[in-house]
Amino acid sequence: MWREYHQATRHSVESLRRSQHVLDWNNMPDPFRHYEGVPVLDLPAGPPPPSIPALQVLSGIKGQVETTEGAPFLSQLLFYSAAISAAKIVPSTGYKYALRVNPSSGNLHPTEFHFVTRGLKNWPDGLYHYRVSSHMAEQRATGFFEIPGEQNTVPLLFVMTSIAWREVWKYGNRAYRYCLLDIGHAWQALAAAALAIGCQAHAFGCFADDEVSSRCGFAQDEWPMLLIELRGAIPAAEPATRTPSWFGGEPNRLSERTGSYPLIDSIHSATKRLVEMPVQGGPPAGVVPSGGARLPEPAASAAAFGDVARRRRSALDFIGGESSMTLSELSAILQAASGSLASDFSSGSFLRMYLYVHRVEGLEPGLYRYWPGESAVERIRSGDQRVAAAGLSLGQDLAGNACVALSITGDLERAARLHGDRGYRYVHFEAGAVGHRMYLAAGALGLGATGIGAFFDERAHQYLELETGEGQVVYHFAIGYPVPDPRLSAVD
Ligand SMILES: Cc1cc2nc3c(=O)[nH]c(=O)nc-3n(C[C@H](O)[C@H](O)[C@H](O)COP(=O)(O)O)c2cc1C
Repeated sequence: MWREYHQATRHSVESLRRSQHVLDWNNMPDPFRHYEGVPVLDLPAGPPPPSIPALQVLSGIKGQVETTEGAPFLSQLLFYSAAISAAKIVPSTGYKYALRVNPSSGNLHPTEFHFVTRGLKNWPDGLYHYRVSSHMAEQRATGFFEIPGEQNTVPLLFVMTSIAWREVWKYGNRAYRYCLLDIGHAWQALAAAALAIGCQAHAFGCFADDEVSSRCGFAQDEWPMLLIELRGAIPAAEPATRTPSWFGGEPNRLSERTGSYPLIDSIHSATKRLVEMPVQGGPPAGVVPSGGARLPEPAASAAAFGDVARRRRSALDFIGGESSMTLSELSAILQAASGSLASDFSSGSFLRMYLYVHRVEGLEPGLYRYWPGESAVERIRSGDQRVAAAGLSLGQDLAGNACVALSITGDLERAARLHGDRGYRYVHFEAGAVGHRMYLAAGALGLGATGIGAFFDERAHQYLELETGEGQVVYHFAIGYPVPDPRLSAVD
């Protein structure tokens, strides 16, 4: 099924011309979910910013634990991974909208953060939903809460869900891809914040969706996508032993009307099937062809994780012209991108990265393939790539004005051989995760970045000269010097 879905949701000049999709602004889905009628617990305001340098976190180094109680710990974790961090005003209407620590395609935020606590100090055990709009926790159950198929031993377990309708409203059938990429971003936002405060995260993509949904009483429109266990320096007490009391809560309605989206229902159903395959090795070995340039020592930065995470923003466009980034900055960003992802599905990355180098000191403009194991880049095409990068990104100028733009390809065939249709989720989770790591690394170095989900699929394959079995483009990305955005204000 994944092939049919992927094929049907490719962008081409013809598909855009054919598209009848119109945005119904009066029916725009609410980006904030609330479960009404349940106890709502405060997360203390102003949690301290984790001071460990962001680049250290991205290289796998743990930060210090700064809290000894459950509530400030959860507050700090969520404030630096999922909370509101800025606001923008639409000049024509004065309408103010929120931006968050984690990015999202179209700022529509399909991802919801639920979590189960077991033995956090001075915090009642149970199942919670993070109420982003007011930085609070909705208590949906209290007591010892078990998730089917999980070991149920960790003190903190996150269940990330997607509300596809939020993305469908704007992007139609292509929305499922964006939901998956957004989960990848949210995963790494959480994993990085956890590490910055002394915990390690491990993600599980393989679980029985319907059992988890019914156990957690998710609303019909919310689908569980990823479980993330947190271990390490979590302020602990004895977990509860009593069976949980269930409050559940009534999910708020997001739109007046919800359209039907059968293609997305089909791909989602197909990816629910779990295929038990022995995990065989990593990706096919490659040999860096001669002519590859080794990347220099990565640039250093002392920028603290707390600042970098909360100041992360997507650039609307980049300052073109003369301003270049250095090769050692590129080296640091690529190294951060290829840090290992702790999960039950990343058996060697499914991804490859191609770079459209526009302005990087010490690297001729051209199209390059990145070889993470060798920390090298191989030139595939010479010359100016600005028109190509922007053109392939659906004509978005930012991909040409950046210092470097990327096509990230995913080996969807290998993922399907290993995991069936569910592999389709995993490749996109990985791509979003890598994108998030690049956002943070770029921010630590004083650069800006933007994830780009809109690209001409087939044209990009042709341009990259991908052969059968070499994967398909799943994500574009751009890094450079952002143009200032006067509509933006920070939220503390
Ligand atoms: C998966 C994904 C795809 C995106 N695609 C695009 C895109 O094609 N063009 C663009 O300008 N921004 C794109 N963005 C950036 C979002 O518009 C941005 O994250 C959102 O407006 C929220 O802003 P923030 O990142 O500053 O919080 C994308 C972001 C994500 C996570």
